[in-house]
Amino acid sequence: MALVPGGVRPRFGGAPGGVPIPNSLPVPDGNGVHGNGSNGVNGDAASPGRLQTAAPPPREEAPVAAPNGAGGNTTGIASFLLTEMEMPEDTDDADFDEEMLRLSHKVHTLLVDELGGQQFKADDRDRLRPVAQQVMNDVLKDEKPLMPKRKAVLLEEVLNEVLGFGPMQYLLNDPTISEIMVNSPTDIFIERKGKICRSRRKFVNEAHVMNIVDRIVRPLGKTANARTPMVDGRLPDGSRVNIVIPPLALNGPSMSIRKFFQKKLDSESLVGFGSMTEGMRLFLEAAVKARMNMIIAGGTGSGKTTTLNIVSNFIPQGERVVTIEDAAELQVYIPNLVRLESRPKNIEGEGEVTIRDLVKNALRMRPDRVIVGECRGGETLDMLQAMNTGHEGSLSTVHSNTPRDTISRLETLCLMSGLELPIRVISKQISSAVNLIVQQARLSDGSRKITHITEVQGMEGDTLLLQDIFVFEQKGRSAEGKVIGRHRATGFRPKCVHEIESRGYNLPRNLFQPD
Ligand SMILES: Nc1ncnc2c1ncn2[C@@H]1O[C@H](COP(=O)(O)OP(=O)(O)OP(=O)(O)O)[C@@H](O)[C@H]1O
Ligand SMILES: [Mg+2]
Repeated sequence: MALVPGGVRPRFGGAPGGVPIPNSLPVPDGNGVHGNGSNGVNGDAASPGRLQTAAPPPREEAPVAAPNGAGGNTTGIASFLLTEMEMPEDTDDADFDEEMLRLSHKVHTLLVDELGGQQFKADDRDRLRPVAQQVMNDVLKDEKPLMPKRKAVLLEEVLNEVLGFGPMQYLLNDPTISEIMVNSPTDIFIERKGKICRSRRKFVNEAHVMNIVDRIVRPLGKTANARTPMVDGRLPDGSRVNIVIPPLALNGPSMSIRKFFQKKLDSESLVGFGSMTEGMRLFLEAAVKARMNMIIAGGTGSGKTTTLNIVSNFIPQGERVVTIEDAAELQVYIPNLVRLESRPKNIEGEGEVTIRDLVKNALRMRPDRVIVGECRGGETLDMLQAMNTGHEGSLSTVHSNTPRDTISRLETLCLMSGLELPIRVISKQISSAVNLIVQQARLSDGSRKITHITEVQGMEGDTLLLQDIFVFEQKGRSAEGKVIGRHRATGFRPKCVHEIESRGYNLPRNLFQPD
């Protein structure tokens, strides 16, 4: 049967109780089909064998300890920053191209006409497939012949358009992709197997992106429009999403998605990936159990939240924990747990509840420990005060590139509290609150490593004393671009070991000896 846009004889029965299919998608009026995303998303970038290939990431990378930093002092930092800036295309998705985009748009438009406002749910995929296939075959009669493999790719793309999150659905379904960044309709970048590359998937135009944005935010009871152009949320599978639309985003709607890692990572996995050694694991476990206050620091996407999740699960099960986050992504498995999430202003500019408000409130909830997902502002001072006053063993993360930088960052964040404290008072507060800094980095080969475990040892005059206990020493890169290096103990026995052992957590005698 010949297909004419807008004039196709229906041949499929609707599904009661589902979602209405409007007339057209993804046409510029943005009138989209709603789908709740059948995404079997599995952010699996952390598999050991998957983070080892060449080519540099385009974003910042923290320096790691210099091979000659034997004194264990954090001033001995060398940078292994990359010089290459090429941006490879995603070679694992070779069958998708502009032609597929054109065809998928064409088939989809006709399919929507064909379905004539019937209702479907994400799990109607198998029911919808034969109809979509028929429409596709009709369209392909007037086109150049397509290889069976490309036909299969086209069919799935059309189904994703009707039932899922359009071009993003394929990226969401692929477990080797951990991050998706939509910069404009035609610029999508992904992190696959730990490496950033340009995706071959594209949107038709801005309205198409907005259509998918709408599908994401509507079930969350939110809207993205000129009045609220920035939206944070989560996909049905728990992936974290940030959306910025025009007029703030100049190249069209922008989306950044950190996929949810389905497999629960534990400290043994991190040892297995080479992110830390068994000795470092033992030390962190004892330090958390013995209620040392810890800041996990690192650059964007360096693995701070993952490490925070892992170390927080060392907390003894009998303790009461309050977690505080902007967009909840922590996975803490403790029975006596309260999870709090901040709230932005509503459309009338009211109702904001900040991380700082929540930290203050948490102290009235009788927590043994407070975990703040990320310190970004004045709440840092409240957090340090909590660490100093009966909530030892509290944990948080900070955005910074070296342990010394972490201290400066904490100082700056405390200044944002609005209390006009002299910097010396702030430094003192940090020195008595924070026991350990766990510094994390994403290296040039895409792997994530703990590059330093550094002890805050107190003040000498106006200077905070830092001592590296474990460092990652990078020796070079293999021909394939894989980072060559190793973790080592610096030989300094941390001062806090005495306290850790006095609380009953004995550590192997040779743990801090360099090998
Ligand atoms: N040790 C690790 N080895 C391999 N992959 C990891 C490791 N830690 C984290 N990842 C992966 O790296 C990505 C970023 O991790 P995570 O969200 O913990 O980073 P982050 O520093 O908190 O990022 P952000 O700055 O955006 O908050 C995730 O996909 C995660 O699965
Ligand atoms: Mg994080």
